[in-house]
Amino acid sequence: MRMAWKLLSLAVPALASECPQALDAVFSDMHDGDKKQVNIQGSALQIKPYGNDQKWVVTSTLQSENCSAMIDFNVPGKPGPPPVKLLMTFWRASANAAEGGVQKASFEFTDPSGTLAAPSVPLNAWLQLGGQRATVPLCPASLKATFADMHDGDRKAITVAGSEMTITSTNSSQTWVIHAELDEHCSASVNFNVPGKPGPPPVPLAARLWRLENGRGGSKSSFEFTDPSGTLAVPGFPLNSWIQLRSQAVTV
Ligand SMILES: *[C@@H]1O[C@H](CO)[C@@H](O)[C@H](O)[C@H]1NC(C)=O
Ligand SMILES: *[C@@H]1O[C@H](CO)[C@@H](O)[C@H](O)[C@H]1NC(C)=O
Repeated sequence: MRMAWKLLSLAVPALASECPQALDAVFSDMHDGDKKQVNIQGSALQIKPYGNDQKWVVTSTLQSENCSAMIDFNVPGKPGPPPVKLLMTFWRASANAAEGGVQKASFEFTDPSGTLAAPSVPLNAWLQLGGQRATVPLCPASLKATFADMHDGDRKAITVAGSEMTITSTNSSQTWVIHAELDEHCSASVNFNVPGKPGPPPVPLAARLWRLENGRGGSKSSFEFTDPSGTLAVPGFPLNSWIQLRSQAVTV
């Protein structure tokens, strides 16, 4: 059964979207393809590499009003820092997994200076590995929105009508179309190997719909991609994230 996202807000406790006072977790970095450890203690935010031999530390101050922090990655030892400071913003992510509702932290990066992209455009996302049980969110009955693809750096147009999901590129010179079928947990197997699609992954990926909430009334959808076959990463490991560009209608 599919129902509107708006019903969800009634079911999720108010605390669920507030800025975390304490957090120590490992995240999958969609853009860099590696892992980061984020530690939050009150307003003190610390970022370190995780699972490799890099040694650097970034610190910043988390503004609890908007649960965001300006991040300067230009620190000793950090390879390939972006040329400008980025805004890191907390979004609570929840999904309807086969084992029940699951909730985790995610961070979205944007460029307030407008150097790399317009300030509203998500440039990268870090998705927490693991998560905790939560109220089971409901799948939307329909959705029509444009998503920023964190891995490819381009945009995808997605339409959901009932269980049917259609994916196209917003690039008019790419005319490929992907059809997929969403299951009752808002998850679909997506085969990118369709005529005209440049650089498809070698295996179908699982796309799961996550609801993102910023705790200040903002909510949007995102699709997280994992590889159930274990070819590209262990099953369940977040490989890519598509983030809805702006709040667009999600209806019953
Ligand atoms: C976040 O809140 C702080 C404190 O109110 C403010 O100085 C800062 O400009 C806000 N940042 C954004 C991106 O809204
Ligand atoms: C649009 O797609 C074409 C064909 O793949 C590619 O060559 C071009 O760079 C893309 N344009 C943009 C703006 O990404």
